[in-house]
Amino acid sequence: MKINELRKKYLEFFKQRGHAIIPSASLLPENDPTVLFTTAGMHPLVPFLLGEPHPKGKRLANCQKCIRTTDIDSVGDTTHLTFFEMLGNWSLGDYWKKEAITWSYEFLTSKEWLGLDPDKLSVTVFAGDEDAPRDTESAEIWKEVGIPEERIYFLPKEDNWWGPAGTTGPCGPCTEMFIEVDEIPKCGPDCKPGCNCGHYVEVWNDVFMAYNKREDGRYEPLKQRNVDTGMGVERTAAMLQGVPTVYDTESFLPLITRIKELSPKEEFTEQDNILCRVIADHVKSAVMIMADDRRISPSNVEQGYVVRRLLRKSILSAEKLGIGSGFLQELAEIVIQMYRNIYDETERNREFIMKNLEDEEKKFRNSLKKAMRKLQRVIDESGTVTGKDAFLLFTSFGLPLEITREIAEEKGIEINLEEFKREFEQHREKSRTATQGKFKGGLADHSEEITKLHTATHLLQEALRRVLGESVRQMGSNITKERLRFDFTFPRKLTPEEIKHVEDLVNDAIKRDLEVKREFMSYDEAIASGALAFFKETYGDKVSVYSVGDFSREVCGGPHVQRTGVLGHFKIVKQKKIGAGLIRIKAILE
Ligand code: ALA
Repeated sequence: MKINELRKKYLEFFKQRGHAIIPSASLLPENDPTVLFTTAGMHPLVPFLLGEPHPKGKRLANCQKCIRTTDIDSVGDTTHLTFFEMLGNWSLGDYWKKEAITWSYEFLTSKEWLGLDPDKLSVTVFAGDEDAPRDTESAEIWKEVGIPEERIYFLPKEDNWWGPAGTTGPCGPCTEMFIEVDEIPKCGPDCKPGCNCGHYVEVWNDVFMAYNKREDGRYEPLKQRNVDTGMGVERTAAMLQGVPTVYDTESFLPLITRIKELSPKEEFTEQDNILCRVIADHVKSAVMIMADDRRISPSNVEQGYVVRRLLRKSILSAEKLGIGSGFLQELAEIVIQMYRNIYDETERNREFIMKNLEDEEKKFRNSLKKAMRKLQRVIDESGTVTGKDAFLLFTSFGLPLEITREIAEEKGIEINLEEFKREFEQHREKSRTATQGKFKGGLADHSEEITKLHTATHLLQEALRRVLGESVRQMGSNITKERLRFDFTFPRKLTPEEIKHVEDLVNDAIKRDLEVKREFMSYDEAIASGALAFFKETYGDKVSVYSVGDFSREVCGGPHVQRTGVLGHFKIVKQKKIGAGLIRIKAILE
């Protein structure tokens, strides 16, 4: 069965059962600063899962485009992707476990629908813990529809609990459906769904969203019991087509075929095949993100940073396969053809996508070239490559260690990895000190007044983005005991209504007495978790991320108050246009 037919059948099945079919939401979540991308179909539905009535009713279904950057390092195996489509059906306080499970089983196994072999179907259910009871109810329903007990597995929260999409919100125990793939043998006597060896492939997840995760980490019952389900389109298609990986379906084959044609290689090793898959996945994701009407270009912040990372990894992989310039655009064309009838924004933003791909490829290939020349010089002059050389190539030209190492090894040179690591550590120390220096420079001292105004600056930045849009970027900040000053990108001065709206948002966040929390993580993790980050180069290796309740999240060195309640009343006292597209605001706490 082709993917187009799978989409059509799924939506038809749920339409016949009273569901309204809604369009896919954007890949860039609206009104949710806690995450960078839409990771599941439920994500845009959060307000309705929390109880707001949905204009289309209590039963919904759709096909949602999703991005999951958490899976980026698994890309290239048989099932993981960064961009994928998810079919889903929802009950907003309407039907519950019995209907959801019975319908899932019917759709998967009935000859009228997907007709998958029921004997190849295994399921998992929640084993229970201090937050929620063991889900024997779901297990009983599975038995009633015909799944034998030995193919029903009880698993803990790590496996059988879904959500929330961000740090707080609707979530609950889930039951997942797995299909056994005969071509991939069991990994051992303990092989079971969730062990990730590839024998059991998850195709569908029914979540019973009856809980809300609060900021303090506790779970409270939701006002209504919801069902949220998600079926991975590419994985299910692979099962239906009897092919061993998602890359063998029509959503990847044209890309993989073209990549292989572009490469001068005659034979492709297993390692080469993985590179082909990585290129296909990453280019597709980058194109789908750039296709959004909000127009994200490759950059060093937020979603733009993810696009840059995906493209650079693709270029590096292409280099290894001997593929020259221009391949990004060629592959992008295939992606656009593949999706233009379903997601017409791909066609609409074609020019923007192509221009960005061209620029990014030129830029990165240029610095790669410089790096290679430098590396050659180092080898010619000294006959070796020290760990320090490799480190300099990395910091000055962005040449990853693995590439330097490969080239050196081809010439029989071994790089001292310990030395590389030592340099890296020293650099990290230095940038840590520099980071601290920078924040001391920005903040006159760590007095109570300044600390309060610093937290208020985070609230202001978030409020500006909510009122004026996400193009607002911090360009500078300066705080004295008396006032904060904040410069940001925006084409014009704010109207009195906008000023009032921003002030109200900040004051509301103050009144809610939100907790300010600090966490440490890698820069990539911070970006993936949705933190705002500016001036990337000034950060050390681990960055500290401050979140203010559910309101704002930023990479920042601090210091900050512990709760917003102490801030008092926030007031904007002045604004000024200080340059083309640059606005300065001064504000006080009274
Ligand atoms: N939200 C659930 C998932 O993504 C259905 O698996």
